Amino acid sequence: MNSKYQALFESFALRSGIQLKNRIIMAPMTNFSSNPDGTVSDAEVEYYIRRSKGVSMVITACTYVTRNGKGFSGEFAADSDEMIPSLRRLATAIKDQGAKAVLQIFHGGRMCPPDLVPGGEIVSASAVAAEQEGSAVPRALTDQEIEEIIRAFGETTRRAIEAGYDGVEIHGANGYLLQQFFSPHSNRRDDRWGGSLEKRMTFPLRVVDEVKKVVAEHAKGPFVVGYRFSPEEPETPGITMADTLVFVNALADKELDYIHVSLMDFWSQPKRGVDSTRPRIELIQERVGNRVPVMGVGSIHTADDALKALQTGVPLVALGREIIMDPDWVEKVEQGRETEIETTLTKDDQTRLVIPDPLWQAIMNTPGWFPVVENA
Ligand SMILES: Cc1cc2nc3c(=O)[nH]c(=O)nc-3n(C[C@H](O)[C@H](O)[C@H](O)COP(=O)(O)O)c2cc1C
Repeated sequence: MNSKYQALFESFALRSGIQLKNRIIMAPMTNFSSNPDGTVSDAEVEYYIRRSKGVSMVITACTYVTRNGKGFSGEFAADSDEMIPSLRRLATAIKDQGAKAVLQIFHGGRMCPPDLVPGGEIVSASAVAAEQEGSAVPRALTDQEIEEIIRAFGETTRRAIEAGYDGVEIHGANGYLLQQFFSPHSNRRDDRWGGSLEKRMTFPLRVVDEVKKVVAEHAKGPFVVGYRFSPEEPETPGITMADTLVFVNALADKELDYIHVSLMDFWSQPKRGVDSTRPRIELIQERVGNRVPVMGVGSIHTADDALKALQTGVPLVALGREIIMDPDWVEKVEQGRETEIETTLTKDDQTRLVIPDPLWQAIMNTPGWFPVVENA
């Protein structure tokens, strides 16, 4: 290895006691490839096996905690004990390759396609549709239903423990249900779940408390709990960087193993709420980095990109699209072959890269998402 990249390979001890062998994590990525009954498919397992040797930790695609939280076709299920064998199959496949396995637990709220949820009825904090064209108006959850969803996050955590995962990541990012409660766009409630910034934090923080409680009750060894969030929203009203700095301060009190800042560009700058042009990730690291480890993500492709990201002081970096395009990324850097890292795809790469059909179709049919180039 080029000694310059040594910092990527330092081990890192998480608060729970889980030891990471290096600083590179596989970001959570939906692959649309689970079986119609909600179990993980062979193709999906093969895709993960191909990507779990080098990274220290794999965060799985999101999995729904209740039936009305299913956000994607081909999303796997974690909403009943019947799914534990399926969940175990995925955990074992990842761990057998040497990576820690973390299950991303999720409810899609108003972003769920109505045809994926029972009765076509989508739910959220309030009856406000997302701004995207054609979005349906959700039904506002009742107080009792909110409590049930909190318990469902706990139940799914218990299943993750029973299935042998090393941890869970609570998906509070990318506009889904937890973010919908934190957002002044989607949360117009005036009860205990909304009305002020403080109250909008209640639901996500209660989910964290429930997950932590279940871990304390059920985990027999160290078990990771991470929280993923998006720092800003484009909508008005919408989450601003100022809101997020208050929220991360509250999250930092929760004894989490890490917080994960969901961004498409690691270096993106705040749009609203703070008087600074420094990257969002640096403001978050500065605010709470001494209390909870921060994980960054977004358009990190080369070994130099990852090194530069760690030099902000953030201890962990996740790779998303890059680990799809080059499953051997970590091994290449480790072996001094970082110049061989592939940062593009060609139309002929599906089989070589072990990518399931539905994910491959999504990539090919979404121009601009991945850098697809002509064959040399
Ligand atoms: C195919 C695909 C599926 C994704 N699915 C999820 C998901 O299930 N949960 C999540 O939190 N983020 C998801 N993301 C976002 C990624 O985790 C990551 O934040 C984003 O792709 C930016 O990182 P990158 O530039 O390294 O790809 C997905 C991204 C991709 C490309």
